[in-house]
Amino acid sequence: MGRSVRLKSFELVARDIREVDVKLLHALSLAVGWPHRPKDWDFLRRAGQGIVAVDGIGRVFGSAMWFPHGRKFATIGLVLTSPRTQAQGTGRWLMEQVFERCGNRNLTLNSTDAAYHLYLSLGFMKEAVVYLWQGEVASSLPAVPVLDGELMSPSAEDLKEIAALDERAFGTSRQKLLALLSEGASICTLSRGGEIVGYSMKREFGRGHVIGPIVASNDCDAIHLTAVHLKELTGRFARVDTREQTGLFADYLQQSRLGISETVTTMSKGKRFLNRKENEPWVYGLAGHAVS
Ligand SMILES: CC(C)(COP(=O)(O)OP(=O)(O)OC[C@H]1O[C@@H](n2cnc3c(N)ncnc32)[C@H](O)[C@@H]1OP(=O)(O)O)[C@@H](O)C(=O)NCCC(=O)NCCS
Repeated sequence: MGRSVRLKSFELVARDIREVDVKLLHALSLAVGWPHRPKDWDFLRRAGQGIVAVDGIGRVFGSAMWFPHGRKFATIGLVLTSPRTQAQGTGRWLMEQVFERCGNRNLTLNSTDAAYHLYLSLGFMKEAVVYLWQGEVASSLPAVPVLDGELMSPSAEDLKEIAALDERAFGTSRQKLLALLSEGASICTLSRGGEIVGYSMKREFGRGHVIGPIVASNDCDAIHLTAVHLKELTGRFARVDTREQTGLFADYLQQSRLGISETVTTMSKGKRFLNRKENEPWVYGLAGHAVS
């Protein structure tokens, strides 16, 4: 009897991500070292659409999700294949399925290093780097600049104004995603002259809390909108995904003892995604690396 055996290859089929047990999705993200909890997957399945690559006995070997915002735009995330099956074509096949389902929408995503060449070969262009700042928040937080405006907890009616501000910063309306995020988040707004000029959300995610989205027109406003949440998280794990590596906002994160743990690359296919303008609202903190 030989000491080795060659296994027969098996076929994977695409199924709707809502049809599988969340435990299988959790096992998939754990296998690639991602911090998503089953709850995080549940949230993502409510916020977007997705497919999984499943074998004949229901085991999940890969996933890909897309989050359409209107008819012209979608973000892509949660593109994962289990280590055992990587570099055998599953990732590319999943992306081709996503393209079919997204039609001719403009697309954006945040690519890990592992996926970068795959996305380049699929026609995505590099736009910016995203820094994943995270860690246990310092027990005593750094001083903040003078506040220009008023920080408040928004009322339900303010959500419309928040969504309109977010659209100016993000480039597309993502009202549905913001409504879902707001269900489980604490939200802070910054108002000047009776108008909301910035907002931020904090919610549970992965190993602790994520602060994002953070939308503001300058670093000082962004610091205040972040500090409000960090104050409640001293000694606990927090994460901010941002395109800021230097400057007052990045310095503030660093002085709060968050550190850059990883970088990912914002890429787009079709129309360019990012369009930063001085003194205009800008997404300082992403809603999350997977949802942009
Ligand atoms: C990135 C990932 C989804 C690719 O999936 P996959 O099933 O290996 O993809 P494919 O087999 O279709 O390979 C696609 C291309 O990427 C290359 N590739 C795969 N893994 C790679 C790696 N770790 N580093 C560099 N290139 C890699 C393949 O060689 C292939 O190139 P080719 O078509 O020119 O030969 C998978 O490696 C993964 O899940 N990684 C961990 C999670 C992650 O980073 N997800 C991406 C989120 S943006």
